[in-house]
Amino acid sequence: MAQWRAIEAIVRRIGASTDEQREWMTTRRQVLNSLTAGATWLAVQQTMSRCWLLGQSAQQAGQHPDEMTANSAVRQAGYPRPDFGTPPTALPKEALAVRGPNSLKAHASQHGILSGAAVVVRSLTDRALAELVVDQCAIIVPENELKWRGLRPSKESYDFTQADAFFAFAAKHGLKTRGHTLAWHNSVPDWLSAMPQSADVRAIFVDHIRTVMSRYKGRVHSWDVVNEAILPKDGMPGGMRNSFWYQRVGPDYLDLAYRTAREADPHAQLTYNDYGVEYDNADNEERRRCILTLLRGMQTRKVPLDAVGIQGHIKAASPFTIGKGLAVYIEAIRSMGLEVYVTELDVNEDDIVSDDISHRDRFVAQTYQDLLEVAFRSPAVKLVLTWGITDRGTWLNDGPTHHRKQPNRPQRCLPFDPEYRPTPAFFAMRESFNTHRAI
Ligand code: XIL
Repeated sequence: MAQWRAIEAIVRRIGASTDEQREWMTTRRQVLNSLTAGATWLAVQQTMSRCWLLGQSAQQAGQHPDEMTANSAVRQAGYPRPDFGTPPTALPKEALAVRGPNSLKAHASQHGILSGAAVVVRSLTDRALAELVVDQCAIIVPENELKWRGLRPSKESYDFTQADAFFAFAAKHGLKTRGHTLAWHNSVPDWLSAMPQSADVRAIFVDHIRTVMSRYKGRVHSWDVVNEAILPKDGMPGGMRNSFWYQRVGPDYLDLAYRTAREADPHAQLTYNDYGVEYDNADNEERRRCILTLLRGMQTRKVPLDAVGIQGHIKAASPFTIGKGLAVYIEAIRSMGLEVYVTELDVNEDDIVSDDISHRDRFVAQTYQDLLEVAFRSPAVKLVLTWGITDRGTWLNDGPTHHRKQPNRPQRCLPFDPEYRPTPAFFAMRESFNTHRAI
């Protein structure tokens, strides 16, 4: 029991957040059980180190109460990614069977939809993955390489290496592109957040939008100019997120951003992108209400805007339905004359209790259909992108929530599995294009 007290003391020092404390209680039971069952000291140490990681991540994520904000924060370091072994060197026969007329992009385009995925630019050196992307995607978006932290090593400089590689890849293979994103609370470089209050952040902001958009002018289908500006929990007027941009550029930062964006690239569809709008629940209803109010205000002030992105980071086994709330939201956007894009679709399956893979895959596939069925009722929906294309690269394995809930179970959340074989989610998406699309 001396060992037990030592563990407890360490975890206290970590200063875990409420969620982590809850997790700690579970772990504590596990540790006690294992000690009683005569587990080795090594096993106990492994459990302790997991607790330490949990505590560390809670601190790094600023213990933010919003799950999405915490899971997409910078520095998720300390969490090992799953070890999938060596990636396939060539596409498996199952992936070859679904290319050409059988691909996602072919089925989508027959129904007036552009479909595609987010890519990590460096991973495109994986030849099989690059082939899969070209086979399946009509449009791609870089996961991180056009964000501030990807482009701006310092106030004076831009590093376009990865972004240029992204546009070169798209041009080489004739793929359309999306731009993501010019203002996001979770991608503020350290040098920028450290600038004194007297610094002219407004001028830096405008210069950044002009420089980045002008460089790729005429080559971008749509730009997520501002990403995730709403967080009612922050208690600001209009449900605005109390972000770096809100504080340092000012509450009119969206107007400024979209006006600058239109001037810099008049061809790009200017998009407002956000999450937490998919479910029939009070939280999502409030978020939808705030977003619509924000967008209506922009339209009244004649701020240029063309489309609204619904991220679509949804969950299998959610207690809430995807239905009326989302349908009414999409219709409201359509009636404002704007297009609707599903920009970051994936299905987090951490809440499925069973470990059985075929059960999980069916559940995930059904969840894809639940969202697409509602989305495709509206002709305003023109675009569907998944956030990643294979389970090998998904960001859903990185966040603190995953490591708390399913540390040993890599997510099966995308249309291709870690061996690049199509999953039931692939077939569910294809079927949705064919059967749920109204036009
Ligand atoms: C995520 C990336 O996928 C991760 O690699 C990164 O560490 C954090 O950001 N909503 C968004 C995306 O708009 O930019 C986020 O991307 C996922 C949530």
